[in-house]
Amino acid sequence: MESSGDAAGADLHLDLAAARGRNELVRALHESIRTGRLPAGTRLPSSRSLAKDLGIARNTVADAYGQLVAEGWLTARQGSGTVVANRASTPPAPIMSLPQAKNFRYDLTPGSPDVATFPRGEWLTAARRALTVAPNEAFGLGDPRGRIELRRMLADYLARARGVRADPERILICSGYVQAVSLLSEVVKALGGTTIAVEEFGYSLHRDVIQARGLEVAAVPVDELGAQPSQLTGQGVLLTPAHQMPTGVPLAPERRTAAVEWARDAGAVLIEDDYDGEFRYDRQAVGALQALDPERVVYTGTASKSLAPGLRLAWMVLPQRLIEPVIAAKRTADFQTATLDQLTLAEFIASGHYDRHVRRSRLHYRRRRDRLVELLAVRAPDVKVAGISAGLHVLLDVPADADDIVTRAARQGLGLATLSNYHVNPTRSTRQAVIVGYGTPPDHAYPGALDLLCQVLGV
Ligand SMILES: Cc1ncc(COP(=O)(O)O)c(C=O)c1O
Repeated sequence: MESSGDAAGADLHLDLAAARGRNELVRALHESIRTGRLPAGTRLPSSRSLAKDLGIARNTVADAYGQLVAEGWLTARQGSGTVVANRASTPPAPIMSLPQAKNFRYDLTPGSPDVATFPRGEWLTAARRALTVAPNEAFGLGDPRGRIELRRMLADYLARARGVRADPERILICSGYVQAVSLLSEVVKALGGTTIAVEEFGYSLHRDVIQARGLEVAAVPVDELGAQPSQLTGQGVLLTPAHQMPTGVPLAPERRTAAVEWARDAGAVLIEDDYDGEFRYDRQAVGALQALDPERVVYTGTASKSLAPGLRLAWMVLPQRLIEPVIAAKRTADFQTATLDQLTLAEFIASGHYDRHVRRSRLHYRRRRDRLVELLAVRAPDVKVAGISAGLHVLLDVPADADDIVTRAARQGLGLATLSNYHVNPTRSTRQAVIVGYGTPPDHAYPGALDLLCQVLGV
């Protein structure tokens, strides 16, 4: 590999391993343009500069450029140098495993908050301050658990707002809850485990992650009191105790105790997914399960609902015995989560912006929920609304086939999901229910989304 650059042109990395002749240079440039590594408009270094960097004659470079200009790969204009031409290239084939962009006119699929309300200005203020005061060592690699500034802030916040028994030494910052599942699966496996239990309804990605780490997934039935602790099995379990995803029920108090007792007896790791704990609308607070036994329960939280999923910031509060193994797993995963984002979030919390944003958002989503519930009572009285006391979605028990409703909605540009979409085995799920995520649409689209929802529900 050789590289070249000059002050004005692009810095090039060209594969010129063997002969350093004109043909090799043509081939290397051609390959870089064809594969999109050098996109249209990229300005190449002057022939003199590239020749110097590659240790070849200037004429060789000039000849190679000349050939590529003649073939239409490059353009050369007096005064603007040699530039990659704008050729219609074959678009790369779509990668089938990537989620396809949702082209709904109105998106009421659950999962995302209203990202249009992301507090850009306040985040920018926090980022500027964090960057200004960050010590030099913050730009190097550090503790895989994450920055102590953020771990301290989170310990205070989680104790105050979620009743978590938190200590900065036991907190590990990770890249989304999905990484928490990955790291903890790896640890369960390393400790000799074979199986992690999950609620029968849940986010399929998390089941995929467990299986990708080489573990079996066992399904635990969920009813109107939450997951059934008598059905727990394996060496680990993922639960959403504050607000079951997606049925919306909180885990009943006696079941919270029973689940912790099971974990204690089985020597299992109980993973509490507190994904939307900030958004509870009724008076009765549902605190963290972790407080029942911090040595048995791993508490996990995320900024994906309270701020934005694109931040990829989440946190675990770990039992003492899991700190070392989880640090080891984090080191070999990505060593540590991006430092500057952590420092920004620490500053965002310290300055009171996080609490203000959560309070503002809670009010915003509560109004949306009330509007949805009121409208459905009038325009779709046969529909039973459940799971309304928290979170960013509700469940509608419908007197028709839920799949038909969702298909009809999609045809009209409205994105919805069914309860069976979340089941470990969708064909086994018989409850006819539609899940409506009211967090996603921006404000201006919400009334239209609700109107279309009422229409597809048949009224
Ligand atoms: C049940 C559940 N847990 C956790 C999360 C958050 O995941 P992450 O932090 O990886 O964005 C989500 C997000 O959609 C979720 O649905």
